[in-house]
Amino acid sequence: FIASENEQYRPDYHFTPAKGWMNDPNGMFYLDGEYHLFYQHYPDSTVWGPMHWGHAVSSDLVAWEELPIAIYPDSLGYIFSGSAVVDLENTSGLGSPENPPIVAIYTYHDMAGEKSGATDFQSQGIAYSTDKGRTWTKFDGNPVLPNQGIRDFRDPKVSQIVDADGKKEWVMTLAVQDRVQFFSSPDLKSWTLRSEFGQDTGAHGGVWECPDLIKLQTPDGKDKWVLLLSINPGGPQKGSATQYFIGDFQDGTFTPDDTMIRWIDYGPDNYAGVTWANLPPTDHRTLFIGWMSNWLYGQVVPTESWRSAMTVARELSLIDVNGVLLLKSAPAKELESLRQEGIEITAASNLPSQAVEIDAELDGSDAFSLTLSNELGEKLTITKETGLVSIDRSQAGKADFHPDFAAIHSAPMSWKAENLRIFLDASSVELFVNEGELVMTSLLFPNSPWKQIEFHQGIGGGQLYELK
Ligand code: FRU
Repeated sequence: FIASENEQYRPDYHFTPAKGWMNDPNGMFYLDGEYHLFYQHYPDSTVWGPMHWGHAVSSDLVAWEELPIAIYPDSLGYIFSGSAVVDLENTSGLGSPENPPIVAIYTYHDMAGEKSGATDFQSQGIAYSTDKGRTWTKFDGNPVLPNQGIRDFRDPKVSQIVDADGKKEWVMTLAVQDRVQFFSSPDLKSWTLRSEFGQDTGAHGGVWECPDLIKLQTPDGKDKWVLLLSINPGGPQKGSATQYFIGDFQDGTFTPDDTMIRWIDYGPDNYAGVTWANLPPTDHRTLFIGWMSNWLYGQVVPTESWRSAMTVARELSLIDVNGVLLLKSAPAKELESLRQEGIEITAASNLPSQAVEIDAELDGSDAFSLTLSNELGEKLTITKETGLVSIDRSQAGKADFHPDFAAIHSAPMSWKAENLRIFLDASSVELFVNEGELVMTSLLFPNSPWKQIEFHQGIGGGQLYELK
């Protein structure tokens, strides 16, 4: 992709819509060789507006092809965030056993209802596709889950859960203001409330949004359930962020192991991320993607014809750090296919493009500092010192569009940093320490691409490398 002049900040390998506004990833599923990605989209402006589900597909999670808009707003409202499942046994009756339907479950947001002061303006609807997600038909019995008088009642994430006796049911995890509610259904059309979680647990600096409930294994092979919950505002770096809980899910009820607050990404710019459904049975991964932005300034960042990108796809797993379970987010292995030319960083090296992966083994001292800079004196610094990993973007280019953008973001990391993978693109950096044991995602708008890299290990040592 060759960036045109006014597309200075268009990423080379992160998904962006050709034009218009994008926020949350929605309804991701895999089918017949294609990874589908839908997203909150307003095609007519670069700020948030009447929400549609935009659509893109990829065969490798790296190169995305944008397809026509999948789901348009209708008389029930805008189409807010949600999920999609492949209804293999046609439990919904919306396809046939030979051609099982894909069912999207999303929130209707009725603007007129909201303006009139009502509190029941969000409800859940479904739409289905029998042609690999190309065209969608709305169910004529919508909404399938009407509102119960709570303003924030949205972002259904549905998955099929199989109990110990092999009985299957659809479970919907729904964000309801300051908690989640779990509903179950035999057919994706009638939903029964099973339980609630969270009113007195976790971070509550803002409204809860975009949940996900996933099953993972601990390093010693036990099943655990992880509940992802995005929160806005109230994140650790101001504005939006995604927290998670680890526990058990049984008979429609989630029970956390502890009340510790954990964040999936300690940078400011990874929000509303959820996981893919229906991966092939041979692929045991849990794949995640997030909106690479923050509601604090997402609508005023300096891009022109479009706004927002997705993060790179990430593989989630559980790790044990000194007896505490944490969620690791590693870059999806498919990203390695983007590697073109490998260069050792030496005094004579060239930075091949604005799209670079830096892969660094650390020497065991557990302190480092990496600075990227350009000829304008702008710089981006990534450090670990005294148990804190930090990204300093306070002098990394344009920042005058919002008072909170120029900042240093830090994250606690009490254990040792052994290696770094850093993904740079035209307007972002994603830092994966120890393959994603700690992650920080950050937007950046340098006025000229990075030219120089300076990397020190330990305190005070190091070497200056120049990239021309
Ligand atoms: C999260 C969110 C969701 C909502 C959508 C609307 O970023 O606020 O809760 O469904 O965006 O676009």
